[in-house]
Amino acid sequence: MSKSITFYVQPGGKLQGEARVPGDKSMSHRSIMLGSLAEGVTHVKGFLEAEDALATLQAFRDMGVEIEGPVNGELTIHGVGKHGLKAPKNDLYLGNSGTSMRLLSGLLAGQSFNSVLTGDKSLSGRPMKRVTEPLATMGANIKATEKGTAPLHITGRAGQLTGIDYAMPIASAQVKSCLLLAGMYAQGVTSVTEPAPTRDHTERMLTGFSYPVKQEGNKVSITAEGRLTAADIDVPSDISSAAFFLVGASIAPGSDLTLRHVGINPTRTGVIDILRLMGANIEVLNERTVGGEPVADLHVVYSPLKGIDIPEHLVPLAIDEFPVLFVAAACAEGQTRLTGAEELRVKESDRIQVMADGLQILGVDAQPTEDGMVIQGGSIGGGEVISHGDHRIAMSFSIAGLRANAPITIHDCENVNTSFPEFRDLAKRLGLDLVCKEEV
Ligand code: S3P
Repeated sequence: MSKSITFYVQPGGKLQGEARVPGDKSMSHRSIMLGSLAEGVTHVKGFLEAEDALATLQAFRDMGVEIEGPVNGELTIHGVGKHGLKAPKNDLYLGNSGTSMRLLSGLLAGQSFNSVLTGDKSLSGRPMKRVTEPLATMGANIKATEKGTAPLHITGRAGQLTGIDYAMPIASAQVKSCLLLAGMYAQGVTSVTEPAPTRDHTERMLTGFSYPVKQEGNKVSITAEGRLTAADIDVPSDISSAAFFLVGASIAPGSDLTLRHVGINPTRTGVIDILRLMGANIEVLNERTVGGEPVADLHVVYSPLKGIDIPEHLVPLAIDEFPVLFVAAACAEGQTRLTGAEELRVKESDRIQVMADGLQILGVDAQPTEDGMVIQGGSIGGGEVISHGDHRIAMSFSIAGLRANAPITIHDCENVNTSFPEFRDLAKRLGLDLVCKEEV
């Protein structure tokens, strides 16, 4: 019997102290993938021990890679080399994780064995044509459902893929990374041009593993001429997890919070830019580079926010942070308008509709549009909202409790475990009055 988790949040409070949020999800996935394909032993520190990244880890174990850990975020991966993966005995179940499915589809298209990728209900409803179509042009053989969704049946076409020069119609790091991984097994050059910058962790980590990748403006290219050499990886804290507390401290009077060792890769820092445009007081301290990725401590104190028109160029740089940014907008003075963010409709849930519905239940004037939302800031009331199994929706409404004038109940929170299992304990320690109940 599946258990359901409900969060009960009492209104008010402030966030104080310091914390280190868990490791970056995107980098954790990629550390397993590239560490497995490398020659030699890769040690990973700061790995995110949450369901999504663990799904990737299990998939590689299923393909014969020996991985020790994780213990306290530390892993040892015994790389099998670029051609060392083995046929999995069963379907590879990837849970809720779009990153696992999209990146693996590219990697597995060029293997010498067949595979089947499956996922949970949410993942099985998400669009996969964005990867299967360009992969088909490369010569891949992937069968999806008629709607273009998982399960994906992949017939390995080792030695038969050909590079393409692909202009991505959407700004997606998952599509870009999928094609780069396929390109490691294709004849000729595989190039991907992005319409706007997206997270570049794959490119950085490939470089860290000594695999040649060429970046020219917004175009990145790769060939099969290369090998991955094991390299140690220190995964910084996930700015997407830090974002809940950046917003929480910005909206709750009296807050003063420091978040340590957060990844501040410029393709991920849109949330800081947007909050600062709204008037937030966020300091970036002790900037340093760790394993090819920029890292800093973030100090945030309460500051009254004002509504803004969110610049569209910041959308891909804050793509996972909009649920909680909508909460910031609900607490701001005046109107906030988001446009150019239709991608939010195909995330773990339809984040435009689900957030608008929930905010309206809490008495906020939030009007969804096709590609964004218009929110009139003011007060947040109490009520019962549903997260629709979307981790970031559940955590965003929890943070809303800091400025609500009545209790908020959030249903369907089990998927917080996909990215941030420590959220409820950490939020409580920092000052949010949150109680979590499991119901069978
Ligand atoms: C991710 C890319 C983004 C992001 C997701 C993680 C990645 O997805 O929303 O949470 O690790 O590459 P899209 O590529 O669909 O924008």
